[in-house]
Amino acid sequence: MPAEPILSLKQVTKRFGGLTVADQVSFDVPQGSRMALIGPNGAGKTTLFNLMSGVYPLNGGSIWLEGRQIDGLPSRQRIGAGLSRSFQNIRLMPHLSVIENVMLGQHAQASGLGDLMTPILWQRAGRWRQMAIERLEAAGIHVHPDAEVSSLPYGVRKKIEVVRALMSRPRLLMLDEPAAGLNPRETAELSAFLKDVAAAGVTLLVVEHDMSFVHDLCERTVVLNFGKLIYNGATRSVQDDAAVREAYLGSRRVAGDGGDRAA
Ligand SMILES: Nc1ncnc2c1ncn2[C@@H]1O[C@H](COP(=O)(O)OP(=O)(O)OP(=O)(O)O)[C@@H](O)[C@H]1O
Ligand SMILES: [Mg+2]
Repeated sequence: MPAEPILSLKQVTKRFGGLTVADQVSFDVPQGSRMALIGPNGAGKTTLFNLMSGVYPLNGGSIWLEGRQIDGLPSRQRIGAGLSRSFQNIRLMPHLSVIENVMLGQHAQASGLGDLMTPILWQRAGRWRQMAIERLEAAGIHVHPDAEVSSLPYGVRKKIEVVRALMSRPRLLMLDEPAAGLNPRETAELSAFLKDVAAAGVTLLVVEHDMSFVHDLCERTVVLNFGKLIYNGATRSVQDDAAVREAYLGSRRVAGDGGDRAA
């Protein structure tokens, strides 16, 4: 019998005014999988991430994490339940150091600002600092932990954001366009790193326009178009699907897209 999916969306619906941006979307993310969520600009991919992570309430349907309904929970409790995400446009704090940014990820579960800041004030003595340094090294990020984030190249900052998202020890990691703006070498490094993350037991759900990255990393793909799910299957077959070709892959950028570098 297949394992229970780590994440289930059931008839998820979201409207902004008169615009339906998620229209009865249902799919499962299998435990341990590396799944892509793709679709044209404006299809509703980031909105779905926002619904899963608790930025917006749903207008209909439900979201389940490991069999537990989470759509009514505040974001912090969803992180506590094992979900973590990165953002499409980098949300590191540019004037904090590398280590401070990474440690903030560990404290996404903290109960208030006081909890959040205390470890930063005491960081030099803390075991969290050591753990954060180890995570950075494991990710192949060889920068000084006290370097200010704003001084670092874009590709490095993108990777640090993934490391930060991992600090809460998620079982499901959702990444919104992690390869956007990376050069081919950085993209290959990121893919290898994410395979290691997945091999360590973290399920991945990745929004991405760079189809060579998607093919390299993700065995399964779901496709959204105008808020509707139009494909759920193997990544290797996605480009053969008539509806997907019509909506997305047949007529547009398919690989190595630069994406939005705005930070
Ligand atoms: N807070 C909001 N209020 C109103 N409309 C919104 C809001 N957030 C998103 N939208 C609209 O919802 C639709 C889906 O946007 P979304 O950002 O989810 O698309 P996307 O698939 O992530 O696109 P991209 O590939 O460009 O990142 C768009 O029409 C967008 O303008
Ligand atoms: Mg988006």
